[in-house]
Amino acid sequence: MLLLDVHTRAFRNLADQTVALSPHTTVLFGPNGQGKTNFLEACYLLCTLRPLRAQKLVELVRLGTNDSAQITGRFDLPGGVRNVDVEVGREGRLARLDGKPIRDPQDLFGGLATVAFTPDDLAVVKEGPDGRRRLLDRAVLNRHPSHLSDARDYLRALRSRNHLLRQRAAPDLLASFDEPLSIVGARIRQRRAEVLSEITPHARRAFTEVARGEAGLGLDLTAADASEQALRRSLEDRLRRDTERGFTSVGPHADDVTVLIGDKPARLYASQGQSRAVVLAFKIGEIENLREKQGRSPLLLLDDVSSELDPERNGYLMSYLAALEGQVVLTTTDRDLVARSAAENALFQRVSEGRIAPEK
Ligand SMILES: Nc1ncnc2c1ncn2[C@@H]1O[C@H](COP(=O)(O)OP(=O)(O)OP(=O)(O)O)[C@@H](O)[C@H]1O
Ligand SMILES: [Mg+2]
Repeated sequence: MLLLDVHTRAFRNLADQTVALSPHTTVLFGPNGQGKTNFLEACYLLCTLRPLRAQKLVELVRLGTNDSAQITGRFDLPGGVRNVDVEVGREGRLARLDGKPIRDPQDLFGGLATVAFTPDDLAVVKEGPDGRRRLLDRAVLNRHPSHLSDARDYLRALRSRNHLLRQRAAPDLLASFDEPLSIVGARIRQRRAEVLSEITPHARRAFTEVARGEAGLGLDLTAADASEQALRRSLEDRLRRDTERGFTSVGPHADDVTVLIGDKPARLYASQGQSRAVVLAFKIGEIENLREKQGRSPLLLLDDVSSELDPERNGYLMSYLAALEGQVVLTTTDRDLVARSAAENALFQRVSEGRIAPEK
């Protein structure tokens, strides 16, 4: 898969324009606040139909317009060139493939694997469980695009159950949600477990290279038993407490990924450099796993990661990218951070006040 070009309209601060991408590396450079991350956000939404960082999709619409935001991408795929467009307005999101409405990422030829790597990711080891869940769920979505519709169904059932808990509804009525919750919830847990175990050996290998001399990396899910029965049992066990508190305290929405360096939990003991090395290793592990399973590299979107890594780890990342056969779009404020190894034959695009133009 190749993303040939991306057209944006009324999207964040970006000008209405078409931006061509290199089949290899495109470097978007420019000072702070010009629209570099916004452009990566457009690419991510196009491929995954999911926001990269927006809390609400409506944030993507250019301030001061009543219009909807629109992104169109031309993809070169085995069947020929196809158009994907995503429109975001006050009523939500509408995606189309060659003009025909689609609902989920699996409708895009079984999914367009896309790995994004942002400065926010670098913090997930030391922070709360949601960042780690999101990191893993994004990896799961690349392997199993139907994960998104399960996540949506699960959330819907969870909201209804929480609503009933707050209303102190009759146990029978509450129990009627345990079935869909545990069926879909178990499926989500199983996919997470499967994808985490696929990624782990690759990530361990990368971690050994990134963090020379450190103890080994371990990644585990907190829910050891991912069966439907186990989830249903824990829902029943916690019913009294959950009724008192007014929310469901167990399930995939509350699970976590435990990161170990040697035998120490990284969340408590890792240094900042070590925790960043873990995330770098996880991302490389994810890419390597996709390459193995899908026979090609995913689209990589790297947002200003170089300035967050120390020179040695950035050097490692740059030489990894240089050796990778795949399409990469990366942003930087400092061209010199990427100029050498990864950027041979790269297409340099300058970003200024929302306008993106090739460097003369
Ligand atoms: N919906 C919107 N409408 C108009 N402008 C917006 C919207 N959302 C964000 N912006 C503006 O877009 C600008 C560029 O944001 P972006 O995050 O892409 O910058 P950047 O080039 O990545 O900068 P940095 O190097 O600091 O990360 C910001 O100044 C922000 O205020
Ligand atoms: Mg940015």
